[in-house]
Amino acid sequence: MQDLVDSALERINSAGTAADLEVVRVDVLGRKGVLAQLSKDMGKLTADEKVARGKFINAAKQTLETAYESLRDRFASEALTARLDSEWLDLTVPAPGVKPGALHPITQIQWEIEDLFRSLGFSVLDGPEVETEHHNFDALNIPADHPARDMQDTFWLDAGGPLGRFLLRTHTSPVQVRGMESLPLPLRMIAPGRVFRNESVDASHEHTFYQLEGMMIDKNVSVGNLIYFMKTLLSAIFKREVTVRLRPGYFPFVEPGFELDIRCLICGGPGCPVCKQSGWVELLPCGLINPHVLSKSGIDPTQWNGFAFGLGLTRLVMMRYAIDDIRWLQSGDLRFLDQFKSEQFAQ
Ligand code: PHE
Repeated sequence: MQDLVDSALERINSAGTAADLEVVRVDVLGRKGVLAQLSKDMGKLTADEKVARGKFINAAKQTLETAYESLRDRFASEALTARLDSEWLDLTVPAPGVKPGALHPITQIQWEIEDLFRSLGFSVLDGPEVETEHHNFDALNIPADHPARDMQDTFWLDAGGPLGRFLLRTHTSPVQVRGMESLPLPLRMIAPGRVFRNESVDASHEHTFYQLEGMMIDKNVSVGNLIYFMKTLLSAIFKREVTVRLRPGYFPFVEPGFELDIRCLICGGPGCPVCKQSGWVELLPCGLINPHVLSKSGIDPTQWNGFAFGLGLTRLVMMRYAIDDIRWLQSGDLRFLDQFKSEQFAQ
């Protein structure tokens, strides 16, 4: 019997790995192990022999389990030491920090143009995106029954007030009206912002886009002044020569009114989806403020006149960066946006 115990002990002590030891544990200490064998013939023993055998088994169990446990603990601590040796942790290394974001390309261009116009003495105004019918249409010489309303299909709200029903503004021109209501004359203002139209979306149309309105009211403002400011603006934005053309354009709040087009910077002229195959992109509708609009806002048109323009900010960004599909701009896709991280604005 002692031989059995000795050889079991020998097997335990010669286990070289934790896995070996586990196999030995099952063989030696398990239900069919040495200890079980020692108690197998218990039934045939006398009472005294049983006592002696019981003591022997207990002692053997003690010995074997102690040997097993100490080896198991040694393997566990060796494994832990090996893991600690292989891993590396330096608590003094600075944390990686927040990944810096960047401004959307439309915001970048908007801020650039704001800086330019501020340097020319213009104020930057903000206006509500939910407008009154009065500010968006009537005060701009677009009464309810006027066909020009059809040019700007909008989203109407059920609610309204004394200034007519509320709507999502279709252009930034209502801020012209708000400027005339609140600023002293002479005035120079721009108003960048988000506008909405009930459009079906394609490569060059969105229901939500950005414009930048500009207005100057003074004495003896001429088309020459208007063209000067527009050229200054475009050369600052594109930082190169762009070909422009001026066509007559109809907007009820300017007279005369123009469409200032630029040569398509995506295709350079032959035609593409962005310029609707025409080679030209409408970028800058503008004109001299219609005297009716001045007098509707309480300004005497015999004393004052001015110009106004409405720059398509979204389209401008597309031209500057040769983006061929307007839908990228509001996609929220970081693969697109990451391309516009400029050093000037990142942080
Ligand atoms: N608000 C006009 C539009 O969105 C553009 C415009 C602005 C035209 C200012 C002339 C003067 O279509």
